[in-house]
Amino acid sequence: ASDATPPVRRPADWDTDRLQALAEAFGTPLYVLDPERVRQNAVRLKRAFPDATVDYAVKANTTRRVLETVADAGLGAECASAGEVRRALDAGFPAERVRYTAVNPPATDLDSVVDWWREGHDLTVTVGARDTLDALAERGYDGRLCVRVNPGVGAGHHAKVTTGDAPQFGVPFDRATEVCGAAADVGAFVGLHAHVGSGVSGEELSAHEALVARMATLADEVRPAPEFVSVGGGFGVPYHREDPPLDLEAVAEATREAFDCDARLVVEPGRYVVADAGVLLTEVTSVKPTDGTTVVGVDAGMTTLLRPAMYDAYHEIRSLSADVDDRSPEPCLVAGPVCETSDVLGEKRVLPAPERGDLLSVGTAGAYGYEMASTYNSRPRPAVVTLDGDTVVRRETLADLTRLESDGGAAE
Ligand code: LLP
Repeated sequence: ASDATPPVRRPADWDTDRLQALAEAFGTPLYVLDPERVRQNAVRLKRAFPDATVDYAVKANTTRRVLETVADAGLGAECASAGEVRRALDAGFPAERVRYTAVNPPATDLDSVVDWWREGHDLTVTVGARDTLDALAERGYDGRLCVRVNPGVGAGHHAKVTTGDAPQFGVPFDRATEVCGAAADVGAFVGLHAHVGSGVSGEELSAHEALVARMATLADEVRPAPEFVSVGGGFGVPYHREDPPLDLEAVAEATREAFDCDARLVVEPGRYVVADAGVLLTEVTSVKPTDGTTVVGVDAGMTTLLRPAMYDAYHEIRSLSADVDDRSPEPCLVAGPVCETSDVLGEKRVLPAPERGDLLSVGTAGAYGYEMASTYNSRPRPAVVTLDGDTVVRRETLADLTRLESDGGAAE
């Protein structure tokens, strides 16, 4: 396979027959993952940032298959919890390439991560508060430490994912020097970290550049001098068909230019690695004409893909029926089975007259899709399979839903 990555993958670019066959074999709703596309995106990032370290923000998609693919491609792992650290280590990321970014870390996360470090996993812990340094010191941790700084500049596709200027992330910029010094007293101070937000593209990239410049200046000031500076992730991907793809090479160039310091540059994208490597398949379960719009009921909803309900996010929806050309286009509201008004996957979508039993694809669903799925309304989470039909995550069953209750499993 070629390492030259083709443009972002739209629902229309997936092989319809293959998707139909997968839906037939595994049922719906179903996430389909293309590991080869994950690999290509990882390789492309490494090529765009040849002198930098590229770590994958694991939270975008933590399935074992994705993690193994990304680790194989030579990326490191940026982890948001002990659970993510465990998955990253188990999937084969070398511990030296694993960073745990502790955001208001629960005591149990710190306990686990320090245990694994003591077992010989030489990972890095990023602290966003002086208190976390103390909590690590109390546990006897004296390993690699990175300090997350609040850069005071944020950007993102939605206010809810604009992190750079939110006070809960990172130590205040004017306290950074002091906290880095404190980190050096506790363990080995090795790095600085900041993250602007998620889904950054277009003019907002100037916020990313401002962050990079601020961090480069800081890196030259703090003592001891940091080995690396992670300037976060956030690279946007196009979700609308008409959006231009992110010019990754231009972003890399601008980042390099703004990064005027001696430390090693680190970037940690999540979405960019996996977003276009996933598609969600869902079946039409009811079609209801109403004034002005056809309500298309589907078996995937906000419990399957939360992004539209949570961020008003757009995902392209396409009919995979064979005879779409013979049907007249209709304005549609595509809604899931959950009893909430927010359970809408797409509004004002023009689809070829949908019919019960049709298969729809929901595009660019590889990042923060399965990952944010829940069992609300007692809906078992969907399966994830590869394009080749390998099971990545099996479908949850009704028995799974009660397994964790004190008398769980009684039904089996
Ligand atoms: N680094 C840190 C410290 C982060 O908090 C995040 C994302 C990333 C890197 C990766 O950002 P990315 O490259 O994926 O944009 N659920 C939301 C996105 C939340 C992102 C949270 N942090 C969504 O579906 O849009």
